Amino acid sequence: METIKVNLKNNPYNIYLGYNLINKVPSYIKKLNIGNLGIILTSAKVYSLYKDLLKSTFGERDYKIIKVIDGEGVKSKKWLFKVIEEIMKADGWGKRVFIVCLGGGTIGDLGGFAASIYKRGIPYIQIPTTLLAQIDSSIGGKTAIDLKDAKNILGTFYQPRAVFIDPFFLTTLTTKEVKEGLAEAIKYGIIRRKDFFYFLKDNYRKIIELKTSCILKLISTCVEIKVKIVEDDEKEKKGIRTILNFGHTFAHALETSCKYRKISHGEAISIGMLYAGRLSFLLGKCKMEATEEIRDIIKCFSLPAEIRFDYTTLCKAMTYDKKFIGGKVRMVLLKKIGEVEVAENIALKDIRKSLKKFCLL
Ligand SMILES: NC(=O)c1ccc[n+]([C@@H]2O[C@H](COP(=O)([O-])OP(=O)(O)OC[C@H]3O[C@@H](n4cnc5c(N)ncnc54)[C@H](O)[C@@H]3O)[C@@H](O)[C@H]2O)c1
Ligand SMILES: [Zn+2]
Repeated sequence: METIKVNLKNNPYNIYLGYNLINKVPSYIKKLNIGNLGIILTSAKVYSLYKDLLKSTFGERDYKIIKVIDGEGVKSKKWLFKVIEEIMKADGWGKRVFIVCLGGGTIGDLGGFAASIYKRGIPYIQIPTTLLAQIDSSIGGKTAIDLKDAKNILGTFYQPRAVFIDPFFLTTLTTKEVKEGLAEAIKYGIIRRKDFFYFLKDNYRKIIELKTSCILKLISTCVEIKVKIVEDDEKEKKGIRTILNFGHTFAHALETSCKYRKISHGEAISIGMLYAGRLSFLLGKCKMEATEEIRDIIKCFSLPAEIRFDYTTLCKAMTYDKKFIGGKVRMVLLKKIGEVEVAENIALKDIRKSLKKFCLL
């Protein structure tokens, strides 16, 4: 088992990574002394897949399971209040309550948010079960729910007390769900680690097949990169954490234009990273070869590298993005593989020009 420390001044914690680590989780939690009743928040699908494992691992004396719906819809006012009511019931039994988020990124975001606002904060634990959650959303303490037209609009920075990453859970994901996470892994390579970018490219087959040694290295490297960025800029105040948004301005515009349905987040950021690369080339920030490298790796993982989309709709969605300030857009641009920069004032005309070249319709 590997232990990665998150050295935050006020909220340090450990991330544990290892196959079949789940069996040891209750004893680790006990040592943290964070309470005596754990509310395990999980989705209907994860519960149906792992019901027996959850019961045998956590038992029914010190833990209570709350099942919620699958997917983004759970990050809503309705489910937040349902979860909080369940916590209140448990709290009424005179126990010290904490939350265990066991599931994908949606469960982590909802559970973390509920933990952060209930009685101005109770402890919570992350046990991520999708690749995206294991390499990204469970780390760094961003919590959120959505309102009707705005994703992640209600949220807090609230760190978990520990994160337990068990890649055993990944075996029940579909290849499409694995690829959701892989798009973010590629992003980490592009923004910070050239060697990791080539590791992904050289081992793509083993990675898609979830070969143990590759998956452990992949998760551990992504966690390391994200932890470093979070340690340097926990509350996204210094512009360092912003680099995690590489490819995301375009991706969010695409997801909004599609009303989150036709395209998944992983697919959207694949195209978004390529777009950000092309824009960077147009602005003279990087060489054409660097953008071609991004296209090649995306194709390697059979993620989409181009999009048939109406230019006008996309352009409108891009300029509605929160990074659009008074005619200028803030975006993360590519310098070379392994290095990006945050550009504060990209002119709208350049965005339009690059979009025109990029959209096939
Ligand atoms: N907080 C952050 O820093 C951060 C960062 C990135 C993304 N996010 C958020 O994460 C969410 C996306 O996370 P996600 O991709 O994990 O989606 P998700 O939570 O919806 O999970 C995807 C699907 O996989 C199922 N699932 C989970 N674990 C499984 C397993 N082991 N086997 C089979 N099925 C399983 C879920 O029930 C769900 O149906 C978004 O809401 C996004 O906003 C948050
Ligand atoms: Zn993302």
